Amino acid sequence: KIPYVIDCDTGTDDAIAIICALLAQDRLDIKAFTTVAGNVEVTKTSANTLNIVDQLGFDIPVAKGAAAPLRRELYTAISHGTTGLGNVVLPSSPRGLYDKDGADTLYHFAKECEGELCVLAVGPLTNLALALTRYPEIKHMIKQITIMGGALVGGNMTPTSEFNMWVDPDAAKIVFDSGIPLTMIGLDVTLKCKVPLPVYERICSISNPFAELAARIFRYMLHRNETTGVSLYGTVELNEAFVHDALALAVTVRPDLVKTRKYFMTVETQGDITRGMTVADFNDVMQKEPNVDAAVEVDVEAFWAWMVELLENGPNR
Ligand code: BDR
Ligand code: CA
Repeated sequence: KIPYVIDCDTGTDDAIAIICALLAQDRLDIKAFTTVAGNVEVTKTSANTLNIVDQLGFDIPVAKGAAAPLRRELYTAISHGTTGLGNVVLPSSPRGLYDKDGADTLYHFAKECEGELCVLAVGPLTNLALALTRYPEIKHMIKQITIMGGALVGGNMTPTSEFNMWVDPDAAKIVFDSGIPLTMIGLDVTLKCKVPLPVYERICSISNPFAELAARIFRYMLHRNETTGVSLYGTVELNEAFVHDALALAVTVRPDLVKTRKYFMTVETQGDITRGMTVADFNDVMQKEPNVDAAVEVDVEAFWAWMVELLENGPNR
């Protein structure tokens, strides 16, 4: 089992990733979740994470992380609703948050795992950047980071910049420049995995708490913009829905789902349009060793088959 800390800004697609991660514990030893401000404020991403973990019957630590980007003002995403989980309301967990903040939690488990800790980061990279700033030696202690964020081409906040990188570009640069081996599951690849209606219907028919919660979240995603919904499936008026973070999680247990290419990459922090752009040195102009294994292709059908099987098997694997 690979020891992991999962750093998230929960968030609807983060929630799907968390549900899948909890079901993939035969492969992942989840030491903690650390939360960060992004899709919504950190009090909400923390509550959402804790409530999901609790509702599904686990007592994995949830540590509250950074409330704001390093230097920019926090910008939140309206598409996840005011709570971050759309219209899904979960019972409030009676359990408290972990007694360390996000960065200290990362450091704590990096030490405990003696060089073996991996991190899945599916929100702005503020917690990792703070950990690298507070404890520079952590760069030798984290084995690998899988990031949902950035893209080789394109963006969703500006033509060049993806949300997680755009929200905290300064943190993203610290993480990309840290020397820790990175796997980037970028927006250009996650956008290939649009939720297929038959997959949604299949998940709706599964009765276990994991699939039931996933179905509620998918339902919100597919209906979140009832009035302006584009017609995606002919007669059915649904929005396009994507599960960016769940693909990144999937790759931690099923690396074969994507094809990757190695590049030297860094992050633009200054630009107006290019703020948060993840820049790959395609022509090796900088002559630097590759630091990022970037996803370039995904086996879309295999990804959805993996998720459906995981949800169908539920906790009984
Ligand atoms: C990323 O931004 C967030 O809104 C999602 O949770 C995902 O991590 C996609 O750009
Ligand atoms: Ca996210």
